Amino acid sequence: MQTLAGKKILLGISGGIAAYKCAELTRRLIERGAEVRVVMTSAAKEFITPLTMQAVSGHPVSESLFDPAAEASMGHIELAKWADLVLIAPATADLIARIRAGMGNDLLSTLVLATDSPVAVSPAMNQQMYQNAATQENIAALDKRGLNIWGPGSGEQACGDVGLGRMLEPMQLVERCELFFQTNEIQPKSQPLAGKSVLISAGPTREAIDPVRYISNHSSGKMGYALAEAALELGAEVTLVSGPVSISAPTHASTVQVESALQMHEAVMANAPTHDVFISCAAVADYRPEIIADQKIKKADDSDQMSITMVKNPDIVASVAALTKNRPFTVGFAAETQDVEKYARGKLINKNLDMICANDVSITGQGFNSNDNAITVFEKQGEHSLPLASKTQLAQSIMMLIEKSL
Ligand code: PMT
Repeated sequence: MQTLAGKKILLGISGGIAAYKCAELTRRLIERGAEVRVVMTSAAKEFITPLTMQAVSGHPVSESLFDPAAEASMGHIELAKWADLVLIAPATADLIARIRAGMGNDLLSTLVLATDSPVAVSPAMNQQMYQNAATQENIAALDKRGLNIWGPGSGEQACGDVGLGRMLEPMQLVERCELFFQTNEIQPKSQPLAGKSVLISAGPTREAIDPVRYISNHSSGKMGYALAEAALELGAEVTLVSGPVSISAPTHASTVQVESALQMHEAVMANAPTHDVFISCAAVADYRPEIIADQKIKKADDSDQMSITMVKNPDIVASVAALTKNRPFTVGFAAETQDVEKYARGKLINKNLDMICANDVSITGQGFNSNDNAITVFEKQGEHSLPLASKTQLAQSIMMLIEKSL
């Protein structure tokens, strides 16, 4: 679908290994109707050639401030004015630092100085470099200045490290562009949640057995974090209560980190009465070990079995739905492996929810720890089927459905 028809995207590529993904990114943007012009730093050329980027974008690539031929075809000021969106992907720690400092020591940083178009930055670097206080301060400064910070993602890195710092995948960046243009084009209607506050729980809980062991599940937080992003894009104030995950929280959300279901219960109950909406996306453990051993439990020589007595955790979403004063519009999730509708509708009624988003978590490629999902939203009257799509897209549809019900 031509979701980016007529949009002019200036793709700035700096010198990180993820630069090789820019050919794919450019193709996907063009496929959706965007016109893409590419600017590369000299380091970027070590990872992907200007010829490749010229071939996929259909335009000569701009590389230098001092190239008379390039300036004759489209000068750097013209390029800066031309773009509807400047997308910098990958954005290295070095480039981010230079943009923060307002430097114009190459074509790309000069363009960022010279443009009054929105700029989106997709950080990509080694996880330690990302965590470095200087990088964090630089990113926070760009964010405060109004630049869009898209990512990074988490996972295995080219250097072998694992952690936050991967550039978002090309399709995730395409979706960010689509969402960006959708929400920015239909203002002020695009901010239908302005003035509303949304509380979201996300990720797993960890139920300690002893100081080194716990019981948990495969929730990655992706669905809940995507809901937080979508709510923010629609103008809401967002509080995220998150179990332990390895993805970065949306910068504009106020995030409370918790570990156990009891901690999540406490954080949610403290916030729920002051929010208009509560979405319980977290995969909360139904039970926790009755006793947390003070010391690491030792292997017993005389028995092949051990047992742990578990006690029920409080049902967080049901507790919120039972509030008699300042009860927010309450949305649950149902993670099912069979009879999805029956169980989801049962939870809608038994927990007294206003809406429930049911997902079949037995299907590979959706549900827990995947980028995609398929959801059926049940209300007391009616249902909406949201077929397989990225969690970003689904989150947007869910937030729009919630907005209509408020
Ligand atoms: O995090 P991802 O990897 O992106 O995966 C997303 C997801 C699969 C975790 C998400 O889409 C999802 O289904 N979340 C709910 C998981 C779950 O715990 O479902 P449930 O059917 O067991 O619980 C029903 C509802 O009760 C949920 O809203 C849950 O948050 C809530 N609950 C459950 C137990 C409890 N003690 N307190 C609760 O509030």
